Amino acid sequence: MASERNIRNIALIGFMGSGKTSVGKLLAEWLKFDFFDTDEFIEARVGKTITRIFAEDGEPVFRQYEREVCEYLKGLSNTVVSTGGGLPANQANLDSLKTHAFVEYLWATPEKLWERVRHQTHRPLLQCPDPQSRIRELLSIREPYYRQADLLVNTDTRSVAEVAQLILREFRSVRAPAPRQQ
Ligand code: S3P
Repeated sequence: MASERNIRNIALIGFMGSGKTSVGKLLAEWLKFDFFDTDEFIEARVGKTITRIFAEDGEPVFRQYEREVCEYLKGLSNTVVSTGGGLPANQANLDSLKTHAFVEYLWATPEKLWERVRHQTHRPLLQCPDPQSRIRELLSIREPYYRQADLLVNTDTRSVAEVAQLILREFRSVRAPAPRQQ
């Protein structure tokens, strides 16, 4: 469990194709926050694409990089973080995010997720003979983690702006100063 919380960032979690990047960029623009993508950070640090890291070094090495990113994130403020889909499926990573960020799970049905990612090729975990079953299988493993978010947002029927609006409202309410005692 996240013990002490000092909420100064927003962290978006959810499966590949849930809209974390689009929603995150819009939120960062509205709030005048920085935008931080954990995958982009890892790629820049290692000097390889995620696809190459998986192929040449293997998934466990990638997951280790994700754990290191979580340590780095603790030093940030006023930042919207878009996390890789598997990053919060590790209790220590999730707990770490919760110490400094308001955490939202962008939720979508497996069908909708598939519709969004089916023409993309940069996600090694879905380069397999039956990606739709893989989505369902990974989702069932990850849901218990994703559901520990502060806010669960259904993105199936909402636009990027609607999802961002909803998160913004909630974030402002958790960040609002306590009413002054007269
Ligand atoms: C992964 C999701 C990807 C990326 C990597 C592994 C996962 O990020 O981190 O391919 O395990 O779900 P996105 O969720 O941003 O696509």
